[in-house]
Amino acid sequence: MQSKQHWEKVYETKTPDAVSWFQPHAQLSLDLIKATGVGHDAGIIDVGGGASTLVDDLLAEGYTDLTVLDLSAVALHAARQRLGERESEVRWIEADITTVELPDNRYDLWHDRAVFHFLTEPQDREAYVRTVFRSVKPGGYVIVATFAEDGPVQCSGLPVMRYSADELHDEFGEAFTLLQHRKETHHTPAGAVQQFVYCYCRRASS
Ligand SMILES: C[S@@+](CC[C@H](N)C(=O)[O-])C[C@H]1O[C@@H](n2cnc3c(N)ncnc32)[C@H](O)[C@@H]1O
Repeated sequence: MQSKQHWEKVYETKTPDAVSWFQPHAQLSLDLIKATGVGHDAGIIDVGGGASTLVDDLLAEGYTDLTVLDLSAVALHAARQRLGERESEVRWIEADITTVELPDNRYDLWHDRAVFHFLTEPQDREAYVRTVFRSVKPGGYVIVATFAEDGPVQCSGLPVMRYSADELHDEFGEAFTLLQHRKETHHTPAGAVQQFVYCYCRRASS
């Protein structure tokens, strides 16, 4: 099954709060985003945001330039429905992150929780990193969370890559400085435990 079909089916058959990656609040992501110190008018993109509540909390915190990108139209629709009138304050992009063309030097902050780890082919990871490099401003921040070395080998029934903080940072290379990394134990709605690693990097300013 093609990746898009897989994700559409997942979101057609499960409510957003029943998927294994559901968090009522993406608290660690929010804490790391706030720790960057970017202003409320900073360009922030949540890549593979799906139906995550991160965008709700960023709007509530006063961030005004938000983009959510995802492969799944159904997931984006669920997030827009949940936001009600405030959905118009967000840019929604239905696209594959390995092929999308995003504007150059557009974002101050790139966030991805549990998307990069699905890229098991080196050429897809290289395409992803090229897009980060082009679309994140010099001096901008990149927060990427994947399953950790001791995390599960599959997510949503698909094989994933698992990373230590250093391995994850290595995928991005020297143009990105690793500022901080954090582990998180995620409890799925079904009661399983999953280890995540979050890398918080900064793109060199020139
Ligand atoms: C495990 S979910 C994580 C969702 C969200 N980031 C969160 O933490 O709640 C992975 C998401 O990535 C999306 N996705 C998977 N592959 C993608 C790709 N190549 N491009 C864009 N989105 C993708 C899926 O549709 C899904 O919403």
